[in-house]
Amino acid sequence: MAVRPILRMGDPRLLKVAARVEDIQSPECRAAIQDLRDTLAAVKGAGLAAPQIGIDLAIVLFGFEKIARYPDAPPVPVTILINPVIEPIGTDQTEGWEGCLSVPGLRGQVPRYDRIRYHGLSETGDIIDRLAEGFHARVVQHECDHLIGRLFPTRMTDLTQLGYTSVLFPELTDPTAE
Ligand code: NI
Repeated sequence: MAVRPILRMGDPRLLKVAARVEDIQSPECRAAIQDLRDTLAAVKGAGLAAPQIGIDLAIVLFGFEKIARYPDAPPVPVTILINPVIEPIGTDQTEGWEGCLSVPGLRGQVPRYDRIRYHGLSETGDIIDRLAEGFHARVVQHECDHLIGRLFPTRMTDLTQLGYTSVLFPELTDPTAE
């Protein structure tokens, strides 16, 4: 069990395609899941992907009941998702504000699919297969992007919509809110 340092933009490990998990019960996989949990809890984030803590495995953790970082966000089920696959439903996309623990202090408007189906494995090896829309769909797309080496600024279409959280959202006074 460990809170691990979160890699920041510029680290080449954030630009790699993550390795598929072949054995969910391996000590490496179990440790990765625990470290994702411990680290996300410590920073009160909406989601975290294994490459962000320097682990080259296709595992993401996301979800929250209520979160200071995104005060208007509806709850998203807390989920460990292994070897995820996303399929857009339709072609509609919407711009919305995103931040990232690997891009601290900044927010940007990012286009994401409004509706997706995502599937993968749970930490017990059960199949997770869900439809999601809105902020839930956004979070999953953001986290899964980390598994293919994409950070949110690389998805932006208008870089005038990138700025400092403290300027854009001064009301977010939580010192951990980035
Ligand atoms: Ni991120």
